Amino acid sequence: MNKTEFYQELQAQVSALIAGEQDVIANMANISALVFDALDLVNWVGFYRVIDEQLVLGPFQGKVACIRIPMGRGVCGSAAQTGETQRIADVHQFSGHIACDAASNAEIVVPVKVDGKVVAVFDIDSISFDRFDQQDQQGIEAIVKQLEASMV
Ligand code: SME
Repeated sequence: MNKTEFYQELQAQVSALIAGEQDVIANMANISALVFDALDLVNWVGFYRVIDEQLVLGPFQGKVACIRIPMGRGVCGSAAQTGETQRIADVHQFSGHIACDAASNAEIVVPVKVDGKVVAVFDIDSISFDRFDQQDQQGIEAIVKQLEASMV
């Protein structure tokens, strides 16, 4: 299975998983579990929600993580502040990176938006440098779009 097929399959699974369910915590929890299981070499997959101008830890799979992240701090805070996906090949080169799990070497963070406003971020960490390419980014952004569609 190539990467395009892999993400098509994953998106079909997300679609089946969240169909008819509007509770965002339940959907974030199942998406985290699904993606953690499906992707190779990942050590943390989960969400932070924007609450009172901070990122607050949400549903995730992986080791315990920092609970609150200020807007603009680290990779997650940058994604939330800019509203742009942050795809980082080597987190040790990212100024302000917050090392929740010392095993993490690469990271991708996709903002989750409702009505154009960032309400959460989807964060995936990998033990493998340069783990996420443009195709991974597109595939993960498409999954976030599915979650966004369930939130309106
Ligand atoms: N590394 C992230 C913090 C969250 S953990 O990876 C779960 C960051 O720099 O924003």
